[in-house]
Amino acid sequence: MSSFRYRPEILEGVPEHLTRNLKQFEDWFLLEAAELKKITEHFVKELEKGLTIEGAVPSLDSIQPMNVTWVRSNPSGRESGRFLTLDMGGTNLRICDVTLSEQKRDFEQTQRKFKLPKEVKSGTAEELWDFVADRLQAFLKENPTGSQDNIPVPLAFTFSFPVDQQNIRSGVLQRWTKKFNVSGVEGEDVVPQLEAALARKNIPVDVVALINDTTGTLIASHYRDPHVKVGSIFSTGTNAAYMEECRLVPKLKDYGLPEDAKVIINTEYGAFDNDRQILPFTPFDHQIDSESLRPGTQLYEKMVSGLYIGEMLRLVMIKLHEEGILFQDKDITRLRQNYAIDATFLSIAEMDISEGLDAMREEFEDDFSFSPTVDEMKVCRYLIGLIATRAARLYACGIAAICKKNNTKKCHVGVDGSVFNNYSGFKDRASQGLRDILDWPVGEIDLIALNASEDGSGVGAALAASLALNKVEQIKTTIL
Ligand code: GLC
Repeated sequence: MSSFRYRPEILEGVPEHLTRNLKQFEDWFLLEAAELKKITEHFVKELEKGLTIEGAVPSLDSIQPMNVTWVRSNPSGRESGRFLTLDMGGTNLRICDVTLSEQKRDFEQTQRKFKLPKEVKSGTAEELWDFVADRLQAFLKENPTGSQDNIPVPLAFTFSFPVDQQNIRSGVLQRWTKKFNVSGVEGEDVVPQLEAALARKNIPVDVVALINDTTGTLIASHYRDPHVKVGSIFSTGTNAAYMEECRLVPKLKDYGLPEDAKVIINTEYGAFDNDRQILPFTPFDHQIDSESLRPGTQLYEKMVSGLYIGEMLRLVMIKLHEEGILFQDKDITRLRQNYAIDATFLSIAEMDISEGLDAMREEFEDDFSFSPTVDEMKVCRYLIGLIATRAARLYACGIAAICKKNNTKKCHVGVDGSVFNNYSGFKDRASQGLRDILDWPVGEIDLIALNASEDGSGVGAALAASLALNKVEQIKTTIL
């Protein structure tokens, strides 16, 4: 039986004319244990299906990519060397200079973040790679690597999008996600494109590994805690990676890999249920999808991740405005703008424990130039709770599905991403979702524990580079 219950104490004392239409939102957003279990069962089948179907095929939109990353081992903890890492995620470009020390599980790093401008996210391939190369050049000016005789420094590139990889040094972009829409990159290998821009500026680096942010998170968290079996991101987008046995990956059958070989799979499970078989889509989900850059793709991600939960709240608030309930005498022009709310708004509002909801009011005033009544804000707080709880419980389905598929009853999951790290309450809600799905005995600790992990794109990427270089060394030694 589900122990899940949404407790809307926040609505106590709020007049009836503001709450009368709220029942429909509970019907849309509350997901009981039985529903989560059904979604998880279907999710397991889809993960398995993705392992059987080869790479970037036209029908990919309805299949979970389950991309083979060619990272074939976990770090031993004794990796060493100096690496540059470049992380192109949803919002920022992050560059790190990481030194892995010979001492087990130790490292030093210097980093710098650059915001990725909107124009760059929707410009041309050349503009994108030149932007990246310029920032790397600026970083290297401030942090010279001291590399002798122009020997290129090894660089690991965390490219947080779905790519089809034939080896760890290359990757063909299957499709842009997360509001990126740069022309001339889909269907192309991103590594030569980046290398060409680096060469134009004479930047002496050698791209030795291309990884996903989930892969980096898995490697970095496993480096610190060997109980970690899944690496996941909950941020602008959402996704997870895990180590799979190659013999269980039918699409690898012709690669002649040893019987006991393993490989990290980047699930790209944001694409779960693109064929709309199981997820409980609301009218708001349909609207977010149909108004997005690529309708019909990343449907699970659009219900769950940080980029979309603010937009969901905005659509819900607009609906209640149009039903004559919220913000009746207010000018809501600024609230009408698409994506005017981001996940931080929801997290600040939920953390506000002041009687007058002062922090939440400040957000409304700063972002939308109007000031709601306390009762209106209580209604919004209630809606935020519903939306964020649904996101967390749906997020739990993906993690539970990976564990079920692998028959993992107990493990740690390393989770990175600004929303996971900064949205207090998200972790508890997701853990409750896992408990409901997996029926842990009452009083039992979290058998699958979601633990905050950082540095996937710094130390995780550096470790991936080190593993990739060792592999080359091993191959060379075998040949000689
Ligand atoms: C999107 C990307 C995926 C990435 C995730 C989190 O889902 O497609 O590659 O891991 O966002 O950044």
